[in-house]
Amino acid sequence: MGQPVLRRTARPVSDFGDQELRRLVADMSETMRAAPGVGLAAPQIFAEQRVIVFRVPSDRGDGDEIPETVLINPEIEPLDDHLSLGWEGCLSLPRLRGLVPRFRRIAFRGIRPDGTPVEGEASGFQARVMQHEVDHLDGILYIDRMHDTRLLCFDSESADFRYQDYCDSDDDV
Ligand code: NI
Repeated sequence: MGQPVLRRTARPVSDFGDQELRRLVADMSETMRAAPGVGLAAPQIFAEQRVIVFRVPSDRGDGDEIPETVLINPEIEPLDDHLSLGWEGCLSLPRLRGLVPRFRRIAFRGIRPDGTPVEGEASGFQARVMQHEVDHLDGILYIDRMHDTRLLCFDSESADFRYQDYCDSDDDV
């Protein structure tokens, strides 16, 4: 955080199947796994292109595990107005964690690295991760989405953090 690349708007990918894109996707995947993290956007490794990678581990989602997925030029839109609060961290804001409101259900579309278009719907943790990563492509960090910075804390404190002490509502915000 503080590095200008994280605040700029990334440009769409127009050249599919070229060597540079393959290398970028491989770098992102390696960086995410090494962290380890559940998502990464290209600007986080100084590539100003609209590419995200994410995964949903079996213990984080609402159902099935979602293997590592790369989405290029992703677009998302909320399917309804429901927001929920959930913990987020970010490899670009080490050691911090925040309770962030996100849309519960989204529709998405994008392009696979091989150029194939893809579209679908996501909910829960997958929807959260996708919103977080797509925000990175527009220069937005999760702290910008928080309604209340009292819900930001250090990793080491998050297990004991009682957000009920700071929120009037339960899960909905
Ligand atoms: Ni992030």
